[in-house]
Amino acid sequence: MAIRKIRVDGDSILTKTSRPVTEFDDRLFQLLDDMKDTLYKAEGCGLAAVQVGVLRRVVVVDCGDGYIELINPEIVSSEGEQKESEACLSVPGLSGVTLRPAQVRVRAQNRDGNWCMYQGDGLKARCFCHELDHLDGVLFPQKLAPGEKLQRSR
Ligand code: NI
Repeated sequence: MAIRKIRVDGDSILTKTSRPVTEFDDRLFQLLDDMKDTLYKAEGCGLAAVQVGVLRRVVVVDCGDGYIELINPEIVSSEGEQKESEACLSVPGLSGVTLRPAQVRVRAQNRDGNWCMYQGDGLKARCFCHELDHLDGVLFPQKLAPGEKLQRSR
């Protein structure tokens, strides 16, 4: 069990594209276990590996309905739109209203390497989109809804 340091905006690693996971080995399991601990310690609903300094396509999520691990995730379909407030552990103290799909379906591998499908709406859809953006070096301030500005959240 280990808490890893969360990188914050201004750290150039957050703008980089993460590489696919090809080895489902102990090193990946350690990363996943540490990301889970780090997510719960920070009281977030999602965390991408790049946020702890690892450029691999790995995301952990818990929107209050259970913990999931997404490896090499892809959005396979999306529907509708929502405008809701969003924040990020790597952008401390700021929030903003983003434009996101209302519902998304995501395909991802689990830690055994098997492909699984996940569906999310509302908060979970936002979380999936937000975390997958991290894997391509995109932070939520780039996804603000038209006319919206960043707000000080605390
Ligand atoms: Ni984030």
